[in-house]
Amino acid sequence: MLLALTHIVSPNLDKCELSHRERQPIDLVLAARQHTTYCDILQSHGLEVIELDINRDYPDSVFVEDTAVVLDELAVMANPGVLSRQGEVTNMEPVLARYRPITRIQPPATLDGGDVLLVGKKIFVGLSSRTNQAGVYALADILKPFGYDVIQIAVTGCLHLKSAITAVDNETLLANPDWFNHSPFTGLRIIPVSKEEPWAANALRLDDMVYLAAGFPKTVDILTSQGYAVSTIDISELQKAEAGLTCSSLIFEKNR
Ligand code: GLY
Repeated sequence: MLLALTHIVSPNLDKCELSHRERQPIDLVLAARQHTTYCDILQSHGLEVIELDINRDYPDSVFVEDTAVVLDELAVMANPGVLSRQGEVTNMEPVLARYRPITRIQPPATLDGGDVLLVGKKIFVGLSSRTNQAGVYALADILKPFGYDVIQIAVTGCLHLKSAITAVDNETLLANPDWFNHSPFTGLRIIPVSKEEPWAANALRLDDMVYLAAGFPKTVDILTSQGYAVSTIDISELQKAEAGLTCSSLIFEKNR
């Protein structure tokens, strides 16, 4: 069974980190309602959803994806590239320790989970403003014994690798090609988002449904015309905190 760890929306969300977006007022009540809908959708696909309340003072704590990389074999605790988020990881570790052996990215290495894209046994890791070179090397060292191929991708223009590219099936990726170096993706098919919707590339795949954040109709049309079943989730308030759909959950097989 797939488990999804999520986290309540912090009352401090309006003090979130922002790197590529202007600060705008966030409606916290609406943000919480949108997050509940997101959790309900995960549940409707048969996932067990555990909504944590362990980091409520941390503004960005709803974005649990950044705290760890969870694979079948182990969980790698991240070391976020901004100080304000590092405490989130400390509190997440005992939760993940119930499901996986734990390893850690240690300083000076930094790594945000949002920079880590798993495609089969390939793990693409964004070298970004949050994940440094030492973080990429540390993840590669940890995962080498498990047969994963860790591939570094330079990211520019957006926060995380997964703001720029995500998988819509096992060999197809949805991407904004302007924000990352695509040459390492040779052999995989890349569907570009609409030029008018640069933030549309963060897709969440549940069963055969590809979910996009609401507000990207042209990219929905592109995917639909290629045969994908597409639906949308309104996360307008979380987008103001620079989030995509994948940021708000850590999804993995419960029993490994
Ligand atoms: N606001 C999301 C992040 O910067 O980590």
